[in-house]
Amino acid sequence: METLDQSHFKQTATRSRVNQNHWDLDAVLPLGYQIAPNYFDRVTDEVHQNFCRLLSRDVYSEGDSQSLYDHIINRSNEMSPAFLAMLDLWLTDELKHYEALRRTNHCIAGISFDAMDQQFADRVHEIEPIAVVLVDEFTFLVTLMFDEIGSVYSYRRDLWEYYRHYGPAIQRIGHHLIQDEGMHFNNAAVLLLNQYRDRFDEVPNLLTQIESLETHLKKYHKTFFLDHAQEQYRFPPCFNAVLIRLILARLGLGQRPDRLELQELWQWIPHDCQTPIFGDE
Ligand SMILES: [Fe+2]
Ligand SMILES: [Fe+2]
Repeated sequence: METLDQSHFKQTATRSRVNQNHWDLDAVLPLGYQIAPNYFDRVTDEVHQNFCRLLSRDVYSEGDSQSLYDHIINRSNEMSPAFLAMLDLWLTDELKHYEALRRTNHCIAGISFDAMDQQFADRVHEIEPIAVVLVDEFTFLVTLMFDEIGSVYSYRRDLWEYYRHYGPAIQRIGHHLIQDEGMHFNNAAVLLLNQYRDRFDEVPNLLTQIESLETHLKKYHKTFFLDHAQEQYRFPPCFNAVLIRLILARLGLGQRPDRLELQELWQWIPHDCQTPIFGDE
């Protein structure tokens, strides 16, 4: 029989390893999938247009993971094996998200794959404006936590506002995105806890710096990180502050925000919004 110590050790070992969700995109949303017309009939024009606009940005920012990865891999001699192993899992997921959103964009907005290929090929990725968060593995991991947890809550809102209206396949894509981004957040935390506890006194200031950089960047520079500022109007003013507390709590550096504060992150309704987003469903 397992002793208490052994069981505790197992739990700690599971929590201290990086992990990956396994799901098959072809099974969830096969190439050539078509959404039943009645789903389009049920959504308002406003919802549909807003979803198309959102997808036209999200598709490519998922794909931008490749250029961020390439930048880091060019400096792989500075990075630890555990970090590089995590980064490989991360890239596989992000490129799957890119393909998932390409298929979603094709189904929802009717954009051809060729047109998306062309648009992606024309993108210019500028690392310099975010260089301050890419100083080393530690700053990268803290920024990754910030970015991924922001994605969790923005996809949660997107799922509620958009994905769920277009049938079970598109809804499942939204769910998988949320779960994967949550896993990426957790994996970054695991590496920080395993390897960088001696630098935890730097974390609060670094998070403030990341938040301020995101606020002051005039635009998204197509480098994956810090792409949420372009949608700030959809989220409550406290969004980043609550996320920062959540990150600090995951690292054992503070108290976790309560359930209502977290709920507010994705259920908040902008003051000028006429249409109730959260109905009785
Ligand atoms: Fe992603
Ligand atoms: Fe992610």
